[in-house]
Amino acid sequence: MGHGKLRKFAENETFSCLLQPSAEEVLAGGYFNLADHPVKGHWIEQMFGGHKGDIVLELGCGKGEYTLELARRNPDKNYIGVDIKGARLWRGAKTATEEGLRNVAFLRTRIEFITAFFGPGEVSEIWLTFSDPQLRASENKRLSSAMFLERYRRFLRPGGIIHLKTDSRFLYEYTLAVAQVNALPILAATTDLYGRQDIPAAAGVIPVLAEKRLGQKSSGRHSQRSRALPAEVREVQTFYESMFLEMGLPITYLEFCPDHIGPYLNPRDPEDFDSAFWRTLEGPRRSFSHQ
Ligand SMILES: C[S@@+](CC[C@H](N)C(=O)[O-])C[C@H]1O[C@@H](n2cnc3c(N)ncnc32)[C@H](O)[C@@H]1O
Repeated sequence: MGHGKLRKFAENETFSCLLQPSAEEVLAGGYFNLADHPVKGHWIEQMFGGHKGDIVLELGCGKGEYTLELARRNPDKNYIGVDIKGARLWRGAKTATEEGLRNVAFLRTRIEFITAFFGPGEVSEIWLTFSDPQLRASENKRLSSAMFLERYRRFLRPGGIIHLKTDSRFLYEYTLAVAQVNALPILAATTDLYGRQDIPAAAGVIPVLAEKRLGQKSSGRHSQRSRALPAEVREVQTFYESMFLEMGLPITYLEFCPDHIGPYLNPRDPEDFDSAFWRTLEGPRRSFSHQ
């Protein structure tokens, strides 16, 4: 490990806004019986100095730019960025510390362990920002799959909201299908958040053949539906998002409420979500975007 990383990891130990539980702590009872962390149900007192306000999570926050900017704009709410990468979280925690942002915290953990950290109804909103679409992996690895929704509902308050922002049309369509097969209320959905019609063909975003088929496969009445979105949905951008915007790539956005009785279902392939088709649209973009 390089000196830079070692220095960041050492400094991470000094940040009061950064919680870094060891995997052993969480896994003491095994993968299917995660040990509750002492902060579970007590974020307001233990991490936000008693500052009462909604708790909003960003899962896979990277360097935390999005968490930080939302927190600056909404001092009445509390924001928690979650990621597994310590060197990335260092950037967010350092900025929060330097700016004295008291409504920001960071949690270093695998998102698979998230239920060990939040109690029933403790969280109001979840942001999934530019998550890995897991094109070829089991769908259970996608952060918007039925398996992850089962985890989220254990701590999301009734009427809570999930926001998905992604450059991946595959992940957008998959998540929309998850919402549709479970009859979850969709609050906003757009395949082009910034309304850009000037996508450079050279970017290889949508091959011509796929574009022709898109009409048949389009996600129908939800594909461009968007209520009047709060300005911050467009104005606040993550690190990856600003990179994609510079390249002129479209950003998709989906907002839904996961309230649901009974187990969540995954969409049937290909009836509800044609994974092979949507995968064909991703090739050049994915390899480019996740370097
Ligand atoms: C493509 S980056 C996006 C970062 C940031 N949201 C942005 O838009 O700039 C995905 C992030 O998710 C994190 N991540 C992916 N899978 C994860 C998991 N299972 N648990 C925790 N973090 C994860 C990675 O470490 C990485 O920082």
